[in-house]
Parts: sequence; structure tokens; C-alpha cells
Amino acid sequence: MTIAGQSKDADHIEKCVLLYSGGLDTSCMLKWIQEKYDCDVISLTLNVGQMTKDFQEIEKKAYDLGAKKHYTIDARKEFIDEYAMRALKANALYEDVYPVSSSIARPLLAKWAVKIARKEKADAIAHGCTGKGNDQIRFNVTIKALAPDIKIIQPVLEWNLSRDEEIEYAKKHGIPLPVDIDSPYSIDENLWGRSIECGPLEDPFCEPPEDAFAWTCPPEKAPDRPEYLEIEFRSGVPVAINGDYMDTVKIVETLNKIGGVHGVGRLDHIEDRIVGIKSREVYECPAAMILITAHKDLEKMVCTRHEILFKSIVDKEWTYLAYAGLWVDPLREDLEAFIDKVNEKVNGVVRVKLYKGSVQVVGRKSEYSLYDYHLATYEKISTFDQKLARGFVELWGLPSVLAHRVLKAQGLREDI
Ligand code: ARG
Repeated sequence: MTIAGQSKDADHIEKCVLLYSGGLDTSCMLKWIQEKYDCDVISLTLNVGQMTKDFQEIEKKAYDLGAKKHYTIDARKEFIDEYAMRALKANALYEDVYPVSSSIARPLLAKWAVKIARKEKADAIAHGCTGKGNDQIRFNVTIKALAPDIKIIQPVLEWNLSRDEEIEYAKKHGIPLPVDIDSPYSIDENLWGRSIECGPLEDPFCEPPEDAFAWTCPPEKAPDRPEYLEIEFRSGVPVAINGDYMDTVKIVETLNKIGGVHGVGRLDHIEDRIVGIKSREVYECPAAMILITAHKDLEKMVCTRHEILFKSIVDKEWTYLAYAGLWVDPLREDLEAFIDKVNEKVNGVVRVKLYKGSVQVVGRKSEYSLYDYHLATYEKISTFDQKLARGFVELWGLPSVLAHRVLKAQGLREDI
């Protein structure tokens, strides 16, 4: 293998698996790949909980455009259990804001593309990513790791089509234009969140217009009464809402719905992409934000301060790997060994209050709680021996007090 993973006959392709969304870009690609490479195209669509997709329609469209075979894979459970729940246990918020919802779906999509490519004996995988984003990194690194012999086709890097030329191409090739062709937004959806880019959002000073959102009600129009939810966690994973036990997919779907009603999970930030560009990103992630808020709170109740402090470093590193397309790096699993160990005891119930766009923890309980009422209380029954405080404070501050004295003597600190 060469570093680039390509041999001399790099251009010859027999059969290509295309990650197909049914949208304009990948529909044009379905045709373009057949034309350019004179090869068979197998289309693959993963259901990771996109709300707006009709998977039967996508399949029909793929065949209409000449796909030799089409696969629709329902990967919702796999996505939630193997990707989103790991992100939850790592309290993953990239740059403290973004719950890496699109990021974590990419390695799963790439894995399925490789699986189908192997099954179909395909020699290439194609996807619709541009050269400016993070997604190409996530796809390409994962594919290269799992199947170094498979070629990667990224039509956007080669075909040089403006938006208008692409529409022209579609018309010429009988590719139906999607109903939302006039939408200025680029959307990516899965159960962990909805990403919205482009159009008016490219002006970072412009408030996201209401039509950018689809899952959440504007907070100011949300119900005037707050809604309380009790979320039960076992080993860091949610298992029940208000005492109703359900599987993780159902929990996430339910929280997306209820959170959406209360306008929870709208995010807007300036994000540092891996390719070096700063971009303005808008998201709707009700379930992810509710669960991360609750999970993080419960962790604080059951872990020592040393665990929490160290875990925040580990979590940040995990999040960075997930965002940066390095899901396959062994460091992710190494970090997860620690994250999972800590999460063994993240058991209990967190009560959250949803109100006009906010999610607030208002109660928590756990059989692993390190909160000790008798230590914490200011009532008479306290078991905390306050006399010990004097010696403790003396020793605790010793190095800092000493340093201050020396600096003052040397004139580096003001004598007050
Ligand atoms: N900025 C996000 C990320 O890198 C979302 C990208 C989603 N793509 C889109 N077409 N909206 O993970």
C-alpha cells in the first residue's frame, strides 16, 4: 500500500458503494459516478433517525437513477448504543457546546459502507462530502483504516460544479429536484441532533431565522408551565423516564420530542473545524442536551472530586477524537476503559425541569451518592468536627502563604 492507499490503476473502478442520502448532491453523484467511471453503483442509506426521510422513496429514487442495488440499513439502535451513549458517558460537548451529533454518525456510516463494499466485492466507496468540512476526514480516515485497499471517491473535489451547474446537471439527467431546493440550509440529522449550516447562518451576527429550526419550538413560544422529568441512569446510560422503562432509542426519541416542545437544545456557536476554518454552526439537540446535563450532574454526586477533575480531561480528549475524525484511534478505546469504569457507579435518578429553552437539574438521588447529609448539614446533628478545620486550613494554605511572603520581601508583590 502506498501512503495514499492508491495503486497505479487508481482510476479504474468496477463497482462503487455510494453513501446516498437521496438529496440533490448524492443523486447527481449517483449518475456522475456511473458516467465518469463507467462502473456499477450500489447505493446505501443508513437510518440513524433522520426525521424527514422517506427511506422507501430514497430507494426508489436510487433505482430510477441507475443504482444496481440499494441497501437501507436501520442503524438507529447501533448508533445510539455504540456511539451516542459513549458520547453521553463522556459528556461530549465539543468546544463546550456541540454534542458531536453529526461527528459520531460518520464512523458508523463509514463502517457500513465498508461492510456493504465487502459483501458486494466493490472496489470503491463514494460520499458527498465537500473538501471544506470535517465529515470527509471522519469518513476517509475510518474507511482507510478498515479497508486500505478500497478507493475513496469524493466527487465534490473533482467535478467543479457550482450550485446552478449542479441543478442544470440534475435537469439534464432526469434527476428530480428535491422539494426543498430553495432552502438555503445544509441539514444533517440523526437521533442525537440536527445540524444546520449555510444561508443566512454564514453571517455570525445574524440571529438564526426561525425557519432554520425543525425540532424545537422557539423558547419564547414554549409552554408557560415548566415540565419535570425524572431520568433514571444505570451505569451512565438512561433506562427510564418518569419510572417508565424503555430502550435507549425510545428514550432519546421521547426526550427529543418533549425537549423540542419546550424549546430545549438550540445551540449557536463559532466552531473550529479540523481543516482550520472557523464556522458558525447551529444545532438542535434536545435529547442530547437534557441527557448530558443530567448525566454530568449524577456523576458529580457519585464520584470523588479527583475522579471528576481527571474525567473532565479524559472527556475533553474523547470529544476531540470523536470530532476530529479519529474514532478508529486506539486512544478512544483506551479512554473509554476509564470512562466506563467511572460510569459503573453512575446509577440513580435525576430530576430535570424544562422551561422555555432551558434544562435545569433540580434534584438527584443515588445509592452510590457521596453526598452525606450528616457531614453537609448546618444543623446541630452535624458529624463534621469543625475544630479540625483550623489545622487543615493552616496546612492547606501553607505553600501559598509562604510564597506570598517571599515575593513581598523581594518587592514583587505590593506591601498593603
Ligand atoms: N459542524 C458539524 C460537524 O462537523 C456538523 C456538520 C454537519 N453537516 C452538515 N451538512 N450540516 O460535526
